[in-house]
Amino acid sequence: MKILFATSEIAPWVKTGGLGDIAAALPPALRARGLDVRVLVPYYPALREAFPDAPEVAHAGHLGGLLPGAALRQATAPDGTPLLLLDFPGYFNRPGNPYLGADGRDWPDNHLRFGLLSRIAAWLGSESSTLDWQPDIVHCNDWQTGLAPAYLQYLPGARAKTVMTVHNLAFQGLFDHASLYELGLPDEAWHLHGVEYYGHLSFLKAGLRHAAALTTVSPTYALEIQTDEEGMGMAGLLRHRADRLTGILNGIDTEVWNPATDVFLKEPYRHYRVTALAAKRENKAVLQRLAGLAVRDDRPLFGVVSRLTHQKGLDLLAEIAATVLDLPAQLVVLGNGEASLEAAFRALAHDRPGECAVTIGFSEAQAHRIEAAADIFLMPSRFEPCGLNQMYSLRYGTPPVVRATGGLADTVVDAADERHGNGFVFRPATAEALLDAIRRAASAWRDNKRWRQLQKAGMTRDFGWLEPARRYEDIYRAL
Ligand code: ADP
Ligand code: GLC
Repeated sequence: MKILFATSEIAPWVKTGGLGDIAAALPPALRARGLDVRVLVPYYPALREAFPDAPEVAHAGHLGGLLPGAALRQATAPDGTPLLLLDFPGYFNRPGNPYLGADGRDWPDNHLRFGLLSRIAAWLGSESSTLDWQPDIVHCNDWQTGLAPAYLQYLPGARAKTVMTVHNLAFQGLFDHASLYELGLPDEAWHLHGVEYYGHLSFLKAGLRHAAALTTVSPTYALEIQTDEEGMGMAGLLRHRADRLTGILNGIDTEVWNPATDVFLKEPYRHYRVTALAAKRENKAVLQRLAGLAVRDDRPLFGVVSRLTHQKGLDLLAEIAATVLDLPAQLVVLGNGEASLEAAFRALAHDRPGECAVTIGFSEAQAHRIEAAADIFLMPSRFEPCGLNQMYSLRYGTPPVVRATGGLADTVVDAADERHGNGFVFRPATAEALLDAIRRAASAWRDNKRWRQLQKAGMTRDFGWLEPARRYEDIYRAL
């Protein structure tokens, strides 16, 4: 069975969040099951640099509307996964974030950029394709490739079946009516049962409407998005298509995120395992020293690695952060995003030197080191389709404090459960509820024996891709 996995991000080259991680990990897991998977991704600068000589394997002519013709190049990722690189320099050879210009705003031609990505995914799944490889399934991810099922629906010659995975319902790919023509879609697509969404064109809705199967990244999120409270305007459609919707919990890359072999834990950091957890304490001292925190082990070190956005609920933490430091405790934060949140955490670090260290930016290495050094991880998300950092934390013996939502609810078991507890869970999205959970975590941390149990429960749980890959294969086969 041949699968085209279409994505706008792929780690380690282009990643703004979890989608990049999934696109790097799920295709190889499917290949290990014997499926013939290729990943379609734009030829961004980082991929140009990694694969400068990727040969052209196909060329699509003009594809309708304002969409240009474009070349496809092929390369092979280090793990053996074939990559199809969509080469249209005018759209994709731009520095920085894949979606935003240097001014922090969406590129004004994003509808054309990701329209082209979607259109090429559909082209590859249709009779017009000139590539000598025909996918049976086009697997789309989030709004950036959400238009592909619509193209396959409205244009002639479709061959492939489509799967649409929602990693985040909050990003809907909304553009104005004129974009319908610019994207080369016919008038008939402008319909309540088509791509139209409250007077806009929505890439995400197009995918949810037209894909043969829908998935999202945790069982709880699959239920939540069918409710009016959490469905972000798509709940009705999702309820209508509920028999097509499956929640499959993401795996994590257990090689990249393995505390016993982590390449970012080089000197002076140390590797550790469930049987050699003492090294975690040494990593804490290293991080404290390097981050300018007081080097002491008589108080818990809380860690945050996150996009700093409303979704992640870190404004709740900002509200009570001074009280948390007074417990006493320390806090280390790595993240970037909304200016007001960046400023709030910067101010906290400034007011409480030695107790709070904040890095505004994106750093893979620092993310690993925080997981390895912190005692407790904080993830108070308002909503969280799956969430990866809580799973990394569990694996690194860093029990997380999470809100009971989406994938967090599916992976973290509150310490109140003596046997299975691996973290701390709270419900209302309020600073008080978060503070209460933080207090419980800080006091459990002081009980060595109990803490070891919590760490072990997390470190020994299986978060690999074997089971999720099997479930995706079932969906492909059913189509
Ligand atoms: P989301 O995709 O909503 O941001 P996830 O938890 O699924 O949330 O995935 C986030 C991914 O991005 C994780 O791999 C996390 O380590 C990483 N990440 C987020 N912010 C940063 C940052 N500032 N520096 C390094 N890695 C980050
Ligand atoms: C999104 C979600 C996150 C999920 C990731 C990968 O970015 O916000 O919860 O883990 O996609 O599926």
